[in-house]
Amino acid sequence: MKRLEGKSALITGAARGIGRAFAEAYVREGATVAIADIDVDAARAAAAAIGDAAYGVALDVTDQDSIDACVAACVAHAGQIDILINNAALFDLAPITEITRQSYDRLFAVNVAGSLFMMQAVARHMIARGQGGKIINMASQAGRRGEALVGVYCATKAAVISLTQSAGLNLISHGINVNAIAPGVVDGAHWDHVDALFAAHEGLQPGEKKAAVAKAVPFGRMGRASDLTGMAIFLASDEANYVVAQTYNVDGGNWMS
Ligand SMILES: NC(=O)c1ccc[n+]([C@@H]2O[C@H](COP(=O)([O-])OP(=O)(O)OC[C@H]3O[C@@H](n4cnc5c(N)ncnc54)[C@H](O)[C@@H]3O)[C@@H](O)[C@H]2O)c1
Repeated sequence: MKRLEGKSALITGAARGIGRAFAEAYVREGATVAIADIDVDAARAAAAAIGDAAYGVALDVTDQDSIDACVAACVAHAGQIDILINNAALFDLAPITEITRQSYDRLFAVNVAGSLFMMQAVARHMIARGQGGKIINMASQAGRRGEALVGVYCATKAAVISLTQSAGLNLISHGINVNAIAPGVVDGAHWDHVDALFAAHEGLQPGEKKAAVAKAVPFGRMGRASDLTGMAIFLASDEANYVVAQTYNVDGGNWMS
């Protein structure tokens, strides 16, 4: 029995990386999936590779008109939205004395405001439909404690955990479960970017930071996007109906809470 049969999901930032892995896993579980991304060509290419149950949609989570148009396009295509994953995010790195307003504004616009106003738009649709739903926000171990060079990104992910709690408590009366996943270090394009930034700021060789963080994971290696799909399926399924406002660590043992 497929666990998401007949469900319609909208996943932001799903053209690559973890979001794309979620889209593939949801389709395997029987869902129809909107791959929504600012890189619409990559979103359409990912959807075409996954198959008929996936479709690409343009979305810039920092733009309210784009959010509204994306939600309308998904409802027009699939009839409803049962599941939202707020996955789109940006990373940056700088010592406190060098953080720029531009970097701060952009990361908060995508990671925090983007997640909040996506939740709002999809929750309005779910409430009007009256059949509840599931919302999953992508947090991070970075939201659990600060890091010397990662102040802004860590603050955005702490905000995502907090918004998950507030939205979870607010929306459960409508049968909408809001929860979050906090990954640790997951290999892919995102971490290639993180590694390059650390190399520039700490004078490391390319790949050195990655090797160090991989070695420090109690499980013994970096995460793979596929390590996160089980939790994403569970939180989107009826099995999670009594799970409210939680953030789950899926990080090979990096953080305990
Ligand atoms: N990779 C990791 O180690 C790791 C660890 C902890 C948490 N996370 C979180 O998991 C999620 C996915 O991470 P990933 O590694 O797959 O990231 P990624 O950088 O590979 O993918 C992010 C996607 O978001 C899209 N995007 C960026 N700005 C957007 C916008 N304004 N509107 C719509 N889409 C936009 C990008 O085009 C890209 O396809 C993120 O929320 C990230 O913070 C990742």
